[in-house]
Amino acid sequence: MLKDKKVILGVTGGIAAYKAVEIASRLKKSGAVVRVVMTEEAKKFVTELTFQEITGQPVTCNMWAEVQHFNVAHISLAQWADLVLIAPATANILAKADVGIADDFLSTMLLATKAPVVYAPAMNTNMFRHPATQAHIASLKARGAKMIEPASGLLACGAVGAGRLPEPADVMAEIEKIFSVMRSLAGKKVLVTAGGTIEPLDPIRFIANHSSGRQGYAIAAEAVSRGAEVVLISGQATVEPPAGLSKFVKTTTAHQMRAAVLADFADADIVIKAAAVADYRPKNVAENKIKKTDRDLVIELERNPDILKELGELKRPDQILIGFAAETQNLLQYAQSKLEKKNLDFIVANDVSRQGAGFQGDTNIIKIISRDGSTEDLPLMTKRELSSVIMDRAESKLK
Ligand code: CTP
Repeated sequence: MLKDKKVILGVTGGIAAYKAVEIASRLKKSGAVVRVVMTEEAKKFVTELTFQEITGQPVTCNMWAEVQHFNVAHISLAQWADLVLIAPATANILAKADVGIADDFLSTMLLATKAPVVYAPAMNTNMFRHPATQAHIASLKARGAKMIEPASGLLACGAVGAGRLPEPADVMAEIEKIFSVMRSLAGKKVLVTAGGTIEPLDPIRFIANHSSGRQGYAIAAEAVSRGAEVVLISGQATVEPPAGLSKFVKTTTAHQMRAAVLADFADADIVIKAAAVADYRPKNVAENKIKKTDRDLVIELERNPDILKELGELKRPDQILIGFAAETQNLLQYAQSKLEKKNLDFIVANDVSRQGAGFQGDTNIIKIISRDGSTEDLPLMTKRELSSVIMDRAESKLK
């Protein structure tokens, strides 16, 4: 599975750096092309020569070693990689990667790469448990980085607890799993809608909602990272579209979103409708600004099409259709009825009135309700982490 894969192994300065030697060796034996990047601190634990001999490739340590190439080396290596593995990852590199400090070759390259990055944190257990380290880990994960959980046991410093770099065989198993997920949707088309629709009232006013697009954009990013062809159809959103989309369509009204969705629906394998679509639009859109009078103003609204319901009617058995339900009461009951009415494979339900859930913010609390009546209750997680669970469930339905 790792044959000809281009892997950068970043080695930082912790006692577990010696285990990185075996990781490099195992990566090489499984067919990967391995380029090791070491920090200056890592060189106090293992030598460049060791990695060079094992990988058969030059080892990079600092920005200035080859001055004539310094301005391109960290960029070209960053672009070359299929995957970056930082093992061991010290508290220092996790903090630098999170806040974007680029003060040596490895941290600079981490900013420049678009390849998936996997960290294997290893350090003293108090350092690992420290809220600062945990916050950096959470933030990197929210941006799509993968973490290999440290093992527990007697640490080099004499303490007992979590913080040990897992055995090289276990790190390899994680890397293989990550590579298999990276291809799990290869050849599949995933259609995602996100954000909120906007229904104009006059050239100045409109009816909208609080959707930020974050959950749908995170789902699109997750589908891209699994190798799918991803079409993202968006209403109003406050975040940037993820890299690697096959198509990005910006829409305004529910009618526009419907047309864009229908144009890409027929050959989609998985369709995820995270968009907050307005159920009603103003019946008359004034050509000019509506002027105030002394009387109250009544706006007449008419029904918008229910896009998801229409897709449920068109859906073939080989297509997976997933909807969202944002509720403020009777969550399970309303979500269940939408699941049936709209002919969905499963529905992602969230009570938007709960702290940590809903439209704005990076976290959500969801329940996944399936056709067979089973309900999965998920704890508070980042929207990116939830996207991974949602895609896992979608993939298993596809099979
Ligand atoms: N949806 C849609 N078109 C609409 C309304 C909703 O495609 N006109 C989709 C949403 O993208 C979401 C699901 O239907 O996946 C449920 O949306 P929600 O607004 O929670 O429910 P509604 O069906 O509008 O029902 P209600 O207004 O009664 O809550």
